[in-house]
Amino acid sequence: MNIRKETRDTDGPNHVAIIMDGNGRWATQRGKPRLFGHQAGARRVREVVKACPDLGVKYVTIFAFSTENWKRTQTEVAGLMALFRRYIQREANYLHRMGVCVRFIGDRVRLDKKLQALMDFLEDLTKDNSTTHLTIALNYGARDEVTRATQRMAVEVAEGRLKPEQVNSEVLASFLDTYVLPDPDLVIRTSGEARISNFLLWQSAYAEYEFIDTHWPDFTPEVFEAVVNRYGGRDRRFGAARA
Ligand code: FPP
Repeated sequence: MNIRKETRDTDGPNHVAIIMDGNGRWATQRGKPRLFGHQAGARRVREVVKACPDLGVKYVTIFAFSTENWKRTQTEVAGLMALFRRYIQREANYLHRMGVCVRFIGDRVRLDKKLQALMDFLEDLTKDNSTTHLTIALNYGARDEVTRATQRMAVEVAEGRLKPEQVNSEVLASFLDTYVLPDPDLVIRTSGEARISNFLLWQSAYAEYEFIDTHWPDFTPEVFEAVVNRYGGRDRRFGAARA
């Protein structure tokens, strides 16, 4: 796996993380079942990933299924899992041809074996690509990620490979699912809710946030470009005083 963290020298965001919200409402507004909205959402993922190189976005991370999403109806959960399987089967070659390196973050253990096998296959197929880094958060929750990281770190300490006084923010970050990724510069949430919903809490400490009203299935490359361009004008100081 390529663990080089690429940075860029232009003003735009290097890493954009997206909470893809509003599929259900988009479908309901059209008198359709919620899964119809998720299917439309999956088609947007393709367009957004394709737009990244032109926008100078090297890393894009999308929130596809949270650790809390299991609370949805069995029909919706099963429909989403089938959608993820189909997405990987249908898009694998296209993503590979576009030079996209795909990674998954989240706890895979609860996902069905067929989906886990497809995730492994897609990661392996695309591992040497570097045009765009697409990370898909599947059964992901930031508190769950930090908890799993802490458990693994505790094992290292208990077995004598890590001293408690060696634990610092870099060491902790190296145990997170995102250890190979740079921190997000920009977090976008669609569909009008101004919440983070347990997404990349540690990694987004200094990110800019954009909460936009557009439902995810209406998030065209043009909308993406407009949000990315707004970011370019911001003054990020990472806690330092204004110059
Ligand atoms: C939130 O909208 C969306 C989700 C929980 C699922 C996101 C999944 C996709 C966009 C499908 C495709 C993804 C991949 C990687 C193929 P919501 O259902 O909460 O919408 P609502 O708030 O309007 O009900």
